[in-house]
Amino acid sequence: MKAVHVDVRVNPIQYEVYMGTDLLDRMAQDLQEKPLAKRYAVLSDDRVSGLYGKKMMESLEKRGLKAQLFTFPQGEASKNRKEKEHLEDAMLAAGFGRDSAVIALGGGVVGDLAGFVAATYMRGIPVLQVPTTTLAMADSAIGSKTAVDVPYGKNLIGAFHSPVEVYMDMGFLPSLDERNYFAGLVELIKHSFIRMPALQDFLSEHRDTVCLRQGEDYFAVMETLFYQNSAVKNEIVSRDQQESNLRKVLNYGHTLGHSVEMASHFERIHGECVAIGIAFAAYLSWQLGYCEEEWAQKQVQLLQEYHQDTRIPEGLTTEQLIQGMKTDKKVRDGKTEWILLAGPGKLVQRPDGAYGIPVEEDILRECLEGFRKWQK
Ligand SMILES: NC(=O)c1ccc[n+]([C@@H]2O[C@H](COP(=O)([O-])OP(=O)(O)OC[C@H]3O[C@@H](n4cnc5c(N)ncnc54)[C@H](O)[C@@H]3O)[C@@H](O)[C@H]2O)c1
Ligand SMILES: [Zn+2]
Repeated sequence: MKAVHVDVRVNPIQYEVYMGTDLLDRMAQDLQEKPLAKRYAVLSDDRVSGLYGKKMMESLEKRGLKAQLFTFPQGEASKNRKEKEHLEDAMLAAGFGRDSAVIALGGGVVGDLAGFVAATYMRGIPVLQVPTTTLAMADSAIGSKTAVDVPYGKNLIGAFHSPVEVYMDMGFLPSLDERNYFAGLVELIKHSFIRMPALQDFLSEHRDTVCLRQGEDYFAVMETLFYQNSAVKNEIVSRDQQESNLRKVLNYGHTLGHSVEMASHFERIHGECVAIGIAFAAYLSWQLGYCEEEWAQKQVQLLQEYHQDTRIPEGLTTEQLIQGMKTDKKVRDGKTEWILLAGPGKLVQRPDGAYGIPVEEDILRECLEGFRKWQK
């Protein structure tokens, strides 16, 4: 037998995440000065493209850049293989080659789908992420994960494909509907709890500005929020690209959150379910003796100030929620694993340094019942 040792040293991934206002012009200017491709495929959903597609195309064309807009129906239902195929075929028919790049203009659905198209188109072309929702700015546009949903579950087929650059324009936020606006901020609130107490203080201090989306300092406040948030997510992701340990802490609130999401048949949107999950993880940390009740209450209070209902929805049984958690990824030896906090930014670790704390099903059952009473 013969063997050739292949040792491909992948370049370290580096990109900038810009946050500010009027960034579409800034992006076009950057691309004019440092072209990324000969042609740009702007991928967006029909709602976002209706609002901002024209502006995006004008900014690019003003700088002499060749671009074409491709759209698909808004909503999670579009994040599938069929829609990926449609977009790819449309790009192929329009003659987009290896020397093109994708610009993903939209929320997390667009970012995930367009990012995945870019990941495999002609074996991979560059992608620029231009997130337009709080969720995409707080979470999905940074971290390099792209995916589509399949009948077997969400995000099961995808790729790691880092953006070349991310442009977060605060000017997109005023048009976002209330529900998506606040639900997206839950991920940011989560980041403040697990890693950055100063961000938590900032969120309390500027609550009115953020919630009312008004005031002359609104954009500046949001810029600071996403700046601090990106620093947290980036620090965690860059230290653990492949999710071997540290990156798991981003799942804070997601164990119960996912279960509520499934049990409610996705009637509650992701962030809303994560808010319930965080409140429960906080309660569990207290019940297991890792923190004081005050810290758990503080987390719940901030979530409620940001318009979240942290109670388990009526009609969802404890058994249903336990079953849902068992089908989740975070199960080992029949015990669900939990990211828990002993205080602001203080993650609970096992003696071997791992972050997932296993919890017995009976204790969980008892705590779910206790949590319902605690939340009344
Ligand atoms: N890749 C990751 O790391 C990662 C992380 C978290 C979530 N996600 C994915 O993100 C998706 C959810 O993202 P989302 O919450 O942004 O949903 P979304 O992209 O569906 O956007 C929500 C709605 O808001 C509309 N919209 C977007 N921007 C707008 C704006 N500025 N003004 C008015 N309307 C606007 C959209 O058309 C859509 O109807 C899920 O598919 C989830 O799996 C991915
Ligand atoms: Zn999430």
